[in-house]
Amino acid sequence: MKKSVFFLCVWIMAAMGMQAQVSPEAFRIWHGGKFSMFIHFGLYSIPGGVWDGKPVAQGYSEQIQAFAPVPEEQYAALAGGFDPKGFDADSIVALAKRAGMKSVVFTSKHHDGFCMFRTATTDYNSYDSTPCKRDFVQELADACRRGGLRFGLYYSLIDWHFPGASPMSAHNADFIPPAHHEYTKAQLRELLTNYGTISELWFDMGSNTPVQSEELYRLVHELQPDCMVSGRLGNDAYDFCVMADNASPENSLQAAWQSAASMFDETWGYRSWQERGDAETKAREKLADMVSVVSHGGNYLLNIGPKGDGTVVPFEESVLESMGEWLKRYGYAVYGAEASPFSRTFDWGVVTRKGNCLYLFSTGKYPEDGKITLQMPGYTLLRGDGKMATYLQYGDDIELTVPASAYKDKIIHVLTLEFDREVKPLPAEPVRAMTLTAHNATPAYSYSCFDYYSNYRSTVEYVWNFEQVMLKQLEFVYTSQERGKTVELTVDGREYLVTLDQGKKETLKQLPLAEVKWGERYVCRDGSGVFDAPSTLHTDLQHPPVRGGRWEPTDKERDEFPCGILSSCFVMQKVYASRAQRVVMEVGAGNGIEVFLNGKSVMKHLNPYRTTFRTETVILPLSKGENQIVLRSYNRFEGKNGYLLRPAAEQAVYRQDFILPDAFTGKNHTLTVRQHGLRSPHADTELSNLRIRLRRVAL
Ligand code: GLC
Repeated sequence: MKKSVFFLCVWIMAAMGMQAQVSPEAFRIWHGGKFSMFIHFGLYSIPGGVWDGKPVAQGYSEQIQAFAPVPEEQYAALAGGFDPKGFDADSIVALAKRAGMKSVVFTSKHHDGFCMFRTATTDYNSYDSTPCKRDFVQELADACRRGGLRFGLYYSLIDWHFPGASPMSAHNADFIPPAHHEYTKAQLRELLTNYGTISELWFDMGSNTPVQSEELYRLVHELQPDCMVSGRLGNDAYDFCVMADNASPENSLQAAWQSAASMFDETWGYRSWQERGDAETKAREKLADMVSVVSHGGNYLLNIGPKGDGTVVPFEESVLESMGEWLKRYGYAVYGAEASPFSRTFDWGVVTRKGNCLYLFSTGKYPEDGKITLQMPGYTLLRGDGKMATYLQYGDDIELTVPASAYKDKIIHVLTLEFDREVKPLPAEPVRAMTLTAHNATPAYSYSCFDYYSNYRSTVEYVWNFEQVMLKQLEFVYTSQERGKTVELTVDGREYLVTLDQGKKETLKQLPLAEVKWGERYVCRDGSGVFDAPSTLHTDLQHPPVRGGRWEPTDKERDEFPCGILSSCFVMQKVYASRAQRVVMEVGAGNGIEVFLNGKSVMKHLNPYRTTFRTETVILPLSKGENQIVLRSYNRFEGKNGYLLRPAAEQAVYRQDFILPDAFTGKNHTLTVRQHGLRSPHADTELSNLRIRLRRVAL
């Protein structure tokens, strides 16, 4: 065994990832609030989804200018009739409070460019160009202060009115010309200086450069250090992330996040002809969404779209009131609660935790045998709330017997379990293998994004639990891709830096060529769409990966062709292996890459900060028999796209020993790795090729 290894060992002081830039107290208040009101109100509320007497069904009603479409002068003329006498900020704040909401986020300026505040930057605002001469940001800011709610602002980064902005487009993710960027900064200065404390700035749409995102991020914090910034500012410059509209991640994230939800997926702004149905059913649907979001560690921002006269739609008021009634009873399981401690999900409902308690919400299906079993190793159940269920503990298992009445009438019930100590996230199942790989790890996720369309659940850390009595020596195995990178390694909470530059090269044992057959290859070029696709892909010749696309045979290992923005090309390669074996592939793609092996995503990331083409190495563990490799190359910004997919010329890995400066005894261990020195804690850690072998040490 080679002992003379070089390593760097430091204690890394900073807590990584999770923490936002704001003060811990401001973060705690924002994160613990859980439930807030979004308000979409502006000129678009006057037509309320109707133009020229006809309902405009395409697009959101707050974007009626684009979808009707309405000529600019006609749309701007709406300001002349804007006098929403029914808009009463105090009664809206009172409604938010009855609903159990802890803050309000208001559209200070939507894509139409009409400012709902008095600004020196343009007359196109609710004070200077309307008969009402009102500053709605001011009114709501004051009402929130009086009512004891926090107040935040939505701000669209695109502008259909400002002459210096990009013209209106179908995707709303336009680039921001320098004059527009300056205009935005001037407005943000006003918004962040004239209205007291702003709890969050909810940037939306547009497509900033990394420099623009950073500049706005810094500006917000310079003016209001505790203001939380939304992820749609782009380029990973954020304090909390938001997914697509009405979306939530499949798992908990290592980043603070929020789900923005509308009453109906079709619109945010008032739509007079919306079929609304029954308010109780809607309230139940939204409560279930909310507790699911909280059970994944997120916050819930639920929208109302007042009418053009400023009054709140009675249906929306009823939904909120009924949610508020439920929260009066069960709010203890929501406010200040953290994500479920379990890494798995349950059919019977969702879970949150707070202090020594676990809260179980009956949002799912009644378990057929009426039983719910939870594995809680190391915890002793002190009590469960006895009214509804019975509780038993057998060793690590807690078994609840739940009456069918807990699921009756679709009411969401909450069961409380109290333990002998604080409930923390539970470790995943221990890994049995002696080699830790991306495939047997429990990944820690965050959310990485260039902009609204280019975002994905990024893997920011790999975590393994395993059993080994004595842990002293590890071996890192990696490819040329990881050479020179530094890894942050933690073992049972102790942190080390390991630079991957001392590995000994070893050629992989390959089967005779005849036993690995590179089969046909196909390309599908016309895939439009976003980058947030799910992490599995089932495709074959009859089922192309995109609607309307076609797999065409090709013999090119690499290619390049003109294409539109927001598009992807796919390459499918069939491979036959006579036994399971690893193969080192060379892959290349544009603004983002994803590689699937037999339908499962094995590597996915945006190419950092808009790299136009990047080549890298990925190890694929082929199964015995037929295999399918699919490469996706994503193009967000360029006029062309391309790909590269071939076995690497050199089928080699590097092996590097690492002797831990401390010996770890005890039976159970937790090891984590992430790449050191990345520009953003939300970017993919790009260590999917890394394998760590646990060396046995004689006692
Ligand atoms: C989208 C829409 C916008 C809406 C926002 C709310 O970005 O373009 O109209 O205000 O979502 O999340």
